[in-house]
Order: sequence, then C-alpha cells, then structure tokens
Amino acid sequence: MALYSEKVMDHFRNPRNVGEIPDADGIGEVGNARCGDIMKIYLKIKDGVIEDVKFNTFGCGSAIASSSMATEMIKGKPLSQALELTNKAVAEALDGLPAHKMHCSVLAEEAIRAAIKDYYDKNGIEYDKSLFPEPDEDGEIHG
Ligand code: FES
Repeated sequence: MALYSEKVMDHFRNPRNVGEIPDADGIGEVGNARCGDIMKIYLKIKDGVIEDVKFNTFGCGSAIASSSMATEMIKGKPLSQALELTNKAVAEALDGLPAHKMHCSVLAEEAIRAAIKDYYDKNGIEYDKSLFPEPDEDGEIHG
C-alpha cells in the first residue's frame, strides 16, 4: 500500500485556500516544536459563520494536505461546528495519514482553534475557556 493516499497527494499538490486574508477577523498560528513546522490560519467571520478561510503552512506535505482539507471542511460552517473539528476527522477525510504523520493534522485543528480564539478575544466575545487549552512548554497542546 502506498504510504500516502490519493487524497493526501491531491491536497498536497493542489492545496485549496492557500494565502492570507489581509482584513481577517481571526488569525491563528501554531507550530510543532519537534519538527519546526508552522501553520497559520486566517478567518473571515460574519454572523458566527466562517465566510472565508485561508492558510499558510511552512511544513511537510502532510501538514499542507491537512490544512487544505481542514479549511475545506470549515468553510461556510458556523464557528461552533469548526470548533468541533478534530484532527482525526481531518485525517479520515484525507483517507488516513501514516501514524508518524498524525501530528501534522493536529496542527490544523490547533490553528483553527487559535484563530477562533483570536476572533473571540478581539471582539470581547465570552467563551468557554476549557475549549482552548493553553499549550505546554513544548508549544504543544494536550488534552
Ligand atoms: Fe511536522 Fe508534518 S512533520 S507537521
């Protein structure tokens, strides 16, 4: 079996929603201290719905494919639904990732969360703090 699914290869070669949104309502940037990869997500939000989303990922192919797929999965969706997006769902939508590449999909989940938190913070919107665990000293979020 090939190491990477067709979908991973497709989203890696033709990533969707690449770029930045200059007047983004929320921006989330996360990194993985071990591999050094960085992902940045921009959200345009209107009436609690993600109208547009773009990403910039300086990372491996799986991180690029994960960000591309994750942005497709949250575009046009309410924030509540975007917050429920797990890295597992992203990996499943890509028809799987090799075990040692699962952390790449975690970056996508974390970057989206960070961007939504940024939007809440900037607009003084109350939120459940437990939804946004603080990263530990490795820069990684557990829990
Ligand atoms: Fe680190 Fe893929 S190897 S994000």
